[in-house]
Amino acid sequence: MPDVMELFSLSGRTALITGATRGIGQALALALAEAGSDVVLIQRPGSNDTTTKTEIEKLGRKATIYYADLASSDDMRGLVKRITNDGHDIDILVNCGGIQRRHPAHKFPDHDWNEVLQVNLNTVFTLARDVGAYMLERQPKGNPPHRGCIINIASLVSFQGGLNVPAYAAAKGGVAQLTKSLSNQWASEGINVNAIAPGYIHTDMNEALINDEKRAASILERIPAGRWGLPDDFKGAIVYLASRASLYVSGQILTVDGGLFHEMTSLADRLPDGWADEESRDGHELLRSMIHRPNADVEGREGALMTGLWYALLKRTHVSSQSSRLGRTLSLEDSVK
Ligand SMILES: NC(=O)c1ccc[n+]([C@@H]2O[C@H](COP(=O)([O-])OP(=O)(O)OC[C@H]3O[C@@H](n4cnc5c(N)ncnc54)[C@H](OP(=O)(O)O)[C@@H]3O)[C@@H](O)[C@H]2O)c1
Repeated sequence: MPDVMELFSLSGRTALITGATRGIGQALALALAEAGSDVVLIQRPGSNDTTTKTEIEKLGRKATIYYADLASSDDMRGLVKRITNDGHDIDILVNCGGIQRRHPAHKFPDHDWNEVLQVNLNTVFTLARDVGAYMLERQPKGNPPHRGCIINIASLVSFQGGLNVPAYAAAKGGVAQLTKSLSNQWASEGINVNAIAPGYIHTDMNEALINDEKRAASILERIPAGRWGLPDDFKGAIVYLASRASLYVSGQILTVDGGLFHEMTSLADRLPDGWADEESRDGHELLRSMIHRPNADVEGREGALMTGLWYALLKRTHVSSQSSRLGRTLSLEDSVK
């Protein structure tokens, strides 16, 4: 067994990554290069941005750009074959490119729905399928034998519904399930498939939230680490999941969120026994206080309520499977408005 630092080395590997012109993807690409990997970048056609390529080359690694629109299934068709036929032996795939569109669900336009699903889910599948097929043909390397790693970028919205982001939530929920499905299929073949679920990260994607002072403050209030995440917060996670350090890890969705997801699910731990019973005044009061926390935004209130209900269901505490009982519990939402 190699020494522990050797386990994290990506020397001699090649990573294929989408969405690395900026934000989280750029930090991931540079981390992979710092750990020793050459990098193949998939960028939007017409993008003249060579910042990431130049930074990788400064680290002494090779960087090659292929142009393809992640929103175009035509552009995706045959792309992996073209890359591998050019001699790039892909060891690591990172599906990071993504977009966000925000509208209330009842006004969500078809075009935005289709675009988000295409970029954030369909393309993730197409690239994973084609890279997976390529990896299955390669001879396993090392001991224990290994063929490669696939890492998808999910979201905390993979676990909950968010607000005004139905397409994004549907796509990222799909990314989490796809990750598990591919892991079931390929872990036995020496291909690890995992995902990283970022919390609230300071990138262009969140410009609207960051510029809304009230919203940004209420989000910050909920993050146990006391700050928004930065793209560099993902460097350790990506090298871990791309390296032999995680050889026995597959099908996982690693939250990198300053403790936010755990904090959300732990809210329900503060619910006293019997909180869902109509006669439980304490439970109702606590739920009210959770939902009406000062400065909590709509998403926070919804999140607290749904997390409480969901977690209670998981724990099977005081929420019976009978629909009448569940209906009564759900009607709590009205009683606290
Ligand atoms: N930021 C967060 O708080 C957060 C939270 C959870 C999950 N995530 C996920 O993390 C990933 C990265 O997010 P980010 O915040 O770093 O986003 P970002 O700063 O907006 O960067 C998005 C990246 O995706 C690329 N991209 C988008 N559409 C593309 C297309 N049609 N063709 C080619 N490239 C395209 C962009 O390329 P261009 O520069 O050419 O536009 C850019 O490189 C996404 O999957 C996102 O859903 C982010």
